[in-house]
Amino acid sequence: MKNILITGGAGFIGSNFINQILTNRDDWQIINLDKLTYAGNLENLKESDKKSNYTFVKGDINNFELVEYLFQKYKFDYVINFAAESHVDRSILGSAIFYQTNVMGTNVLLEVAKKYGIEKFLQVSTDEVYGSLGTTGLFTESTPISPNSPYSASKASADMMALSFYHTFGMPILVTRCSNNYGPFQFPEKLIPLMIINSLNDKKLPVYGDGLNVRDWIYVDDHNRAIELVLEKGKFGEVYNIGASSEMPNIEIIKMILKLLNKSEELIQYVKDRPGHDRRYAIDSSKISNEIGWAPLNSFENAIAMTVEWYLKNQAWWNRIITGEYRNYFNVQYGERLI
Ligand code: NAD
Ligand code: TYD
Repeated sequence: MKNILITGGAGFIGSNFINQILTNRDDWQIINLDKLTYAGNLENLKESDKKSNYTFVKGDINNFELVEYLFQKYKFDYVINFAAESHVDRSILGSAIFYQTNVMGTNVLLEVAKKYGIEKFLQVSTDEVYGSLGTTGLFTESTPISPNSPYSASKASADMMALSFYHTFGMPILVTRCSNNYGPFQFPEKLIPLMIINSLNDKKLPVYGDGLNVRDWIYVDDHNRAIELVLEKGKFGEVYNIGASSEMPNIEIIKMILKLLNKSEELIQYVKDRPGHDRRYAIDSSKISNEIGWAPLNSFENAIAMTVEWYLKNQAWWNRIITGEYRNYFNVQYGERLI
């Protein structure tokens, strides 16, 4: 049995990771430490919460004493750090919390892991640390780090901090840098769920700038399988890019979603561009493919249709987010489980 600390496991990617892992294996004891910011939603983990090898702890990764208490209590073998402020637009409105959580919080996890010892520490980073590409080329692991938004600058800092703990202290650090994810349970501030939900509600679809910014999309399960494999087979001190070679201009995705929902393109509304808007991201994932044997299983065409279907079937889930009711889930379900 391995004891695993997962941070930020009530968010989009972390909750999918926990749900996926707990259906596939019972040799992991998962402790999910999450602050439950606006982005955390315990309803995502309804099924996992029934499992005896899953425990939720509400708390902040910046809380050194709490993190230390958990290390003493559970003697973690692995840490997977998903916890972060993750939305670029919010980082433009206010950057301090991004620095606090993404940089300082990661530092707390690294310091405590160093103090108590750990078998593996995986830092979930992002392709946004590389900055923006022109019309050609791909991000490789040796592309210079050149982040442009307060979000990506904080993630770059955290990822380099983690790597510095490998170089300086010989800690067993692994770093993954993935492209844009989509799938179930994504908070509806991000492009794909926002466009699906607005279309369903016949609300305007705000397209930043000319709509021709390009992102490289990956289905969340493919990202999470890559994380599991890097944890199993990755070399310490190494970075692994993760991407599914699905580059697409934003406007094309929006039109696909409208088509899948049988809605009119008249809903599209071009709006003022995001300040400092990165033009293009595209990932070269040959390293993870050659060294670890990972490849995505889902094509964009199939997985976007599955995702649209999921949001159609789970209107109650996103309605509770829109009304704010999801914030009560913790109190109702977990009131007696605070430590
Ligand atoms: P998310 O915003 O959906 O979830 C973040 C989670 O972290 C939430 O549950 C939140 O409550 C929790 N959290 C925030 N601050 C915390 C703190 N101080 N202490 C404990 N918990 C805290 O984010 P996501 O999209 O699931 O992303 C997860 C990770 O993956 C992030 O590190 C992000 O940078 C990275 N990433 C995301 C994408 C993407 O497309 N979404 C792509 C590549 C990498
Ligand atoms: P987003 O989902 O915020 O991810 P990121 O900025 O981390 O890549 O945005 C994806 C792309 O969609 C990005 O180019 C900005 C654009 N976008 C819009 O055009 N309109 C929107 O309302 C949002 C949220 C994003």
